[in-house]
Amino acid sequence: MTPMSDVQRVLSGIQPTGRFHWGNYFGAIRQYIALQDQYEAYYFIANLHALTTIRNAEELRRNTLDAAIDLLALGLDPDKAALFVHSDVPEVTELCWILMTGTPLGLLERCHAYKEKKAKGLTADAGLFTYPVLMAADILAYDSHLVPVGEDQVQHIEVTRDLARSFNHHFGETFTMPKAHVLDTSARVPGTDGEKMSKSYGNTIEIFEDPKSMRKKVMRIQTDSRPMEEPKDPQTDHLFQLYSLFASDSEREAMAATYRKGGFGYGMVKKSLADLAEAYFATARQRRAELAEDRDYVLGVLEEGTKKARAKAGDVLGRVRRACGVAWHA
Ligand code: TYM
Repeated sequence: MTPMSDVQRVLSGIQPTGRFHWGNYFGAIRQYIALQDQYEAYYFIANLHALTTIRNAEELRRNTLDAAIDLLALGLDPDKAALFVHSDVPEVTELCWILMTGTPLGLLERCHAYKEKKAKGLTADAGLFTYPVLMAADILAYDSHLVPVGEDQVQHIEVTRDLARSFNHHFGETFTMPKAHVLDTSARVPGTDGEKMSKSYGNTIEIFEDPKSMRKKVMRIQTDSRPMEEPKDPQTDHLFQLYSLFASDSEREAMAATYRKGGFGYGMVKKSLADLAEAYFATARQRRAELAEDRDYVLGVLEEGTKKARAKAGDVLGRVRRACGVAWHA
């Protein structure tokens, strides 16, 4: 019953929990843009997921629109990819319920977001606990083949595959099996303290941060206190990792050689990183300012994206309903 067409689809989602940061860009958004040329692409703003952390309606609304503007400014092309907001495709929440009926609790107990919260002694709600099932529905609803994400989401894609496999086993071939697409060089972008860059760790640098504030944050990136003269291994240094994301091959090679030779200060590396980062996002920043003035255009893009997404998700949901028997009159 799975579709036999040769079209390959890419899908990914991103939570509007705040403004996007360098980790989001290099771990995910850059891949969305690169893949939209070769695949039928679906990208969405995961506001239903964000509701597990944002409990302020105005903030969620504002972040959702900001997220759309950011993605378009960074190069997501609405002629190539469907861009839409999660909650505008209700088919996905029905699919989530259907999948939930076949989800073992143990599978969810092993998922890291829930485990980490529990380990900290915090109480988790059912939304956080069942989050991976909604994510599975997000992916399976579009017959997605490829899911570009950072390393932290790979476990959720494994859960998705488990749920798809189990459903297919019970009810016959229904779902397309998705695969994570993770780039080695940016699977886990470090934050200013060397841990994974993440809003919840307070170590982020935003893509569209005001350049002055971006520079300040870069200058505060934590480094060690070894003497300047000492040769250093670039591969183990998170400042070098961040620099590498923005640098050309020759700039990266030259900086790596400087590290190995020693006799440099981290201040020089930070300044070079800030210069590269400012130039890297300059065009997108300008485009963002224009898009922010054209709300109607952005809303139009989302509306078109929603139509395309609902058509696809509706087809898949129909197939699922027939397969498991909730389409009782069929
Ligand atoms: P979210 O919103 O936390 O992050 C969006 C994307 O950014 C990647 N990312 C990173 N990559 C590398 N280094 C980092 N420091 C870093 N920080 C974030 C994430 O891996 C992600 O790809 N559950 C998802 C959203 C989601 C989704 C989906 C993704 C909902 N449904 C379906 C794919 C498919 C999340 O919370 O991502």
